[in-house]
Amino acid sequence: MSGEITFDLLTSDRCVPDAVRAAMLESPGFGQVFTDHMITLRWSQDRGWHDGKLQPYGPLVLDPATAVLHYSQEIFEGLKAYRQEAGPIVTFRPEANAARFAKSAARMAMPQLPQDAFVRAIEILVTQDKDWVPHSTSQSLYLRPFMIATTPALGVGKPASSYLFAVIASPSGAVFTGTGVRAVSVWLAQGYTRAAPGGTGAVKTGGNYAASFAAQQQAIDQGCDQVVWLDAAEHRWVEEMGGMNLFFVYGSGSDARIMTPPLTGSLLPGITRGSILRLAPDLGIPAGEEPISVEQWRDRCAAGEITEVFACGTAAVITPVGTVKGTGGGWQMGDGQPGQVTMRLREELLGIQFGRLPDPHGWVHKII
Ligand code: PLP
Ligand code: COI
Repeated sequence: MSGEITFDLLTSDRCVPDAVRAAMLESPGFGQVFTDHMITLRWSQDRGWHDGKLQPYGPLVLDPATAVLHYSQEIFEGLKAYRQEAGPIVTFRPEANAARFAKSAARMAMPQLPQDAFVRAIEILVTQDKDWVPHSTSQSLYLRPFMIATTPALGVGKPASSYLFAVIASPSGAVFTGTGVRAVSVWLAQGYTRAAPGGTGAVKTGGNYAASFAAQQQAIDQGCDQVVWLDAAEHRWVEEMGGMNLFFVYGSGSDARIMTPPLTGSLLPGITRGSILRLAPDLGIPAGEEPISVEQWRDRCAAGEITEVFACGTAAVITPVGTVKGTGGGWQMGDGQPGQVTMRLREELLGIQFGRLPDPHGWVHKII
């Protein structure tokens, strides 16, 4: 069961022609267009990891009894490949995604993929499909590694005995559309919670997202872009915004500092969140972790202490929050427009990813 995990290269003879690909890359949206290839790798109890391949992108054939279709034994990751201005194609902290994938696997009673195989799978796919990495710095290649339970059996006494790991890639643009960066409006989830102590909130498993759609729809019905999740026990401590972590900016100019809710076990430990906690002090912006309740959020905005709020995640990078709405009414962050600290951090992070700025923490991982 040990030994090197290898990937056979089965390249497609039906790749999308250059002109068609160029048209698809003009305005790809998010997660709607996919490249020519994908990675697949299987695991079984008797053989361990085996049958790794790069192969043409295409449908998976699954027995209707396949465990993932019934019990959601599934995990995924999200990271991006960037075409830097000087030429190289890079990813950002892929080993952090590999480590989180392993934690997700442990929580969901799935086999752990060695981290070097996770990173190698990404390198092979991006290298093969490099022409799909957008040239525009408002776009990148979103990578979606995932793993599903493939055993065709309906018993629930134990985890599945076979799994499929795969990686697909999607050239993608901005998640929140509009001209430039726009501030989003958020709705405080009412009657729904995303995660509870001991649950799966700290890992990336599909069921967390399936369970969030009703609350996201509630937010949209209330005229808001996104839902903000509160803690399960008291329903007052702020946890996350949709699929992103939140930061609160206190003060302004040279006195600005940023705070984010601590990782209590029901929040996803975002890699962007972790990066911002380390990056902000480099820019002279102190950064820390501190619980914040809805009342504190509202009162500190009213008192002018909180000046900006932003959400962060791989897909939408750093996104300003402009307004909050809940059953008790709403309020605005500053003038409701993207704030200076938010935009400074966004430019810094994107600058490192796209190679416009130095990478003092060694986060950029060159692929080709
Ligand atoms: N929180 C949730 C629930 C998420 O799904 C994500 C993104 O995948 C994040 C936070 C942000 O994580 P990251 O910065 O690693 O993309
Ligand atoms: C993120 O990368 O920030 C996400 O929320 C990913 C999402 C599409 C699940």
